[in-house]
Amino acid sequence: MITVNFNPDIDKERIEKILMEIRADAMGGWIDWPQNYNKEELYRIKAAAAKVREESECLVCIGIGGSYLGHRAVIEALGEKSSTKIVYAGNSLSRRELGRALNELGDQDFSINVISKSGTTLEPAVAFEAFKKKLVEKYGEEEAKKRIYATTDANSGVLHDEAVANGYTRFVVPDNIGGRYSVLTAVGLLPLAAAGINIDELLAGAAEGSAQISSDSVAVKYAWMRYVLGSRGYDTEVFASFEPATMYFNEWLKQLFGESEGKNKQGIWPASVIYSTDLHSLGQFMQDGRRNLWETIIDFPTDEMNAKVVTAVRTAHAAGGIPVLNIGVSSYDEKGFGELIYFFEMSCAISAKLFGVNPFDQPGVEAYKTELKKLI
Ligand code: PA5
Repeated sequence: MITVNFNPDIDKERIEKILMEIRADAMGGWIDWPQNYNKEELYRIKAAAAKVREESECLVCIGIGGSYLGHRAVIEALGEKSSTKIVYAGNSLSRRELGRALNELGDQDFSINVISKSGTTLEPAVAFEAFKKKLVEKYGEEEAKKRIYATTDANSGVLHDEAVANGYTRFVVPDNIGGRYSVLTAVGLLPLAAAGINIDELLAGAAEGSAQISSDSVAVKYAWMRYVLGSRGYDTEVFASFEPATMYFNEWLKQLFGESEGKNKQGIWPASVIYSTDLHSLGQFMQDGRRNLWETIIDFPTDEMNAKVVTAVRTAHAAGGIPVLNIGVSSYDEKGFGELIYFFEMSCAISAKLFGVNPFDQPGVEAYKTELKKLI
């Protein structure tokens, strides 16, 4: 169960209207997803993950943005629980980084999960070519095709067409779920299952979160607090975690909120810190710098010493004049993360609506892709 240390005065009528709008939105497929998950697809994902674990020392996961950050966030936080290691690629255009990932793989047995909803994004496309070449060199054309898992659109796109033509095992990114809301679909579930994460528990945690949604729920309270603070000139939110392994969870949060809210010259800049490490770098600014920010502590259950730092930081930073929101997470496991993912997805959708922007499009991301295509 998620708990919060604030209880704002919410305009319930406005929230009810927003919840109705979100439920009716063509991109609202993620809302009932945890309960209505297609059992047959879940079975296919688990079977594919078992095959990967059996025949590969590594699964190369190729994707960027919403096709990357969610599963990495959970895998890094909980740790890989299978002997199959995940190697990440296709999340930049740096040759150096691509070389590093190829080196990390070395001579190990591997399979590839290429993930791209559009099937046309350049970063994963470039990495896919490089790793596919290595796969073919190692196993030959026919065996290579059996080791490629493509997660993409059901009907169109370059990746879709290639997957169909070559008989790769395919998984679908649903039309009605955008990239940054897709971690609980095959986008995230296949890499997670391959890493030995219990995806049933993850979905169960998300289902618990979704069952709690009403105008009184914690997700609504948090969205409303963001709206209140944002409207009062606090234009930066700093997500603070005291668990270093959750650094990628912070990255996922930044993408979720940044892409959902940063439009029409609006939005709260999402930043992040890992404490106590960053108390020795950004701590000074948090305590005493420009007062345009607030801190949202993601308060995972932790050991006694670390818990004392959480309390000390809350007290010191509040005294330093910044609002400190606390989001208490009940368990540091699959269930806890499932619930937390759903909590933030729902809060983000509501908060974007409160600010009057569409939580589900990302025209800014498309603009850079178009410019890049012109240049190459
Ligand atoms: O959340 C989003 O929609 C984006 O971050 C996309 O996930 C990202 O641009 C990658 O797109 P695609 O999955 O089409 O390759």
